[in-house]
Amino acid sequence: MVGARPQFVKAAAVSRILRGELGQRLGLSEYLVHTGQHYDENMSQVFFDELSIPRPDVDLGVGSGTHAQTTARMLEGLETVFSGEKADVVLVYGDTNTTLAAALAAAKLDLPVAHVEAGLRSFDRRMPEEINRVVADHLSALLFCPTDAAVANLAREGVATGVHQVGDVMYDAALFYGALAPAKSHVLERLALAPGLFALATVHRQENTDDPERLDGILAGLTEVAERLPVVLPLHPRTRKTVHALGWKQRLASLRVVDPLSYLDMVSLERAAAVIITDSGGVQKEAFFYGVPCVTLRDQTEWVETVELGANRLAGAEPQRIRQAVDAACAEPRPGALESGSRASGSALPYGDGHAAERIVEVLAAS
Ligand code: UD1
Repeated sequence: MVGARPQFVKAAAVSRILRGELGQRLGLSEYLVHTGQHYDENMSQVFFDELSIPRPDVDLGVGSGTHAQTTARMLEGLETVFSGEKADVVLVYGDTNTTLAAALAAAKLDLPVAHVEAGLRSFDRRMPEEINRVVADHLSALLFCPTDAAVANLAREGVATGVHQVGDVMYDAALFYGALAPAKSHVLERLALAPGLFALATVHRQENTDDPERLDGILAGLTEVAERLPVVLPLHPRTRKTVHALGWKQRLASLRVVDPLSYLDMVSLERAAAVIITDSGGVQKEAFFYGVPCVTLRDQTEWVETVELGANRLAGAEPQRIRQAVDAACAEPRPGALESGSRASGSALPYGDGHAAERIVEVLAAS
């Protein structure tokens, strides 16, 4: 099941193994369903092309709407798909409305649900993602956790059966697809950016975009940073819409605003940035994987390891905190990328070894 941008990356990592030598040997096959939650060319199709994701067998084309509208459209469409296909297991990823709808539709039809990225918690029920993940976890027969912290979160909620700590499929993707970025992406030249001399920012969370006070603080913070360091902002359609509705287009004037980027262009910018400023979960981790300091525009994170290891700072939405966190992050010596092992220094990497997808496929085959 896929539907939104982060799911394309996670599904690419799993599909590659599931449809590859290992999956075939284990007798597995995949039927790919796209809900159509993300539908813009640069939010969807470009990821399928770059990550060589097979064409979806079905695209429900649900498009935009309120949470209830889109989730309801997905539930209706998925019930039909699931009734016809009789899958052995429904594999859902992450915490979007697509995850919630697929888990619920499958569970009601008595189809086993397997959740990739199970057990993450922000402990903030105001976030739609928190509701989606809690529900998906409690409906799942197989729970693939990326970290020990995720396993502990599930244990606290009484979920212990079917739990597997497999590592993070996003780390698999970062290693495999990230290696393709230098040859395939020319985004630095296109945007005339020098490595190490710009900040990369992303803002799209509902808690930030739908709260004018927080959005105001974030834009003020980014503008302060831009006085010293160019700030590149690939603008999510949700954020673009809000900024325009508030009549704040001028507030973006000192930022290098670009359209949403493809995966390989994003990876290239992440690796070359002096600092990454984001409210995205996936981007926080990619910063960590590539050894780039991160400032997170939230008050909590599900990826607690990045903060504990000093690679990520929580700055909320206040301009002064954002600027100070960016200053502190830029003043630090660069630790170097995880993939070269320099940050690991003997301890186990918190996000696995780049083979999470293999473990998932093996557990699926054995279940
Ligand atoms: C969704 C996920 C979020 C994830 C994010 C990644 C939920 C609840 N949230 O948020 O966890 O981090 O995807 O991007 O599922 N839009 C377009 N074109 C598109 C897609 C969206 O214009 O291709 C606009 C629409 O105006 C839409 C709005 O963005 O109403 C929000 O899209 P939606 O899918 O509801 O949530 P995201 O903010 O993208």
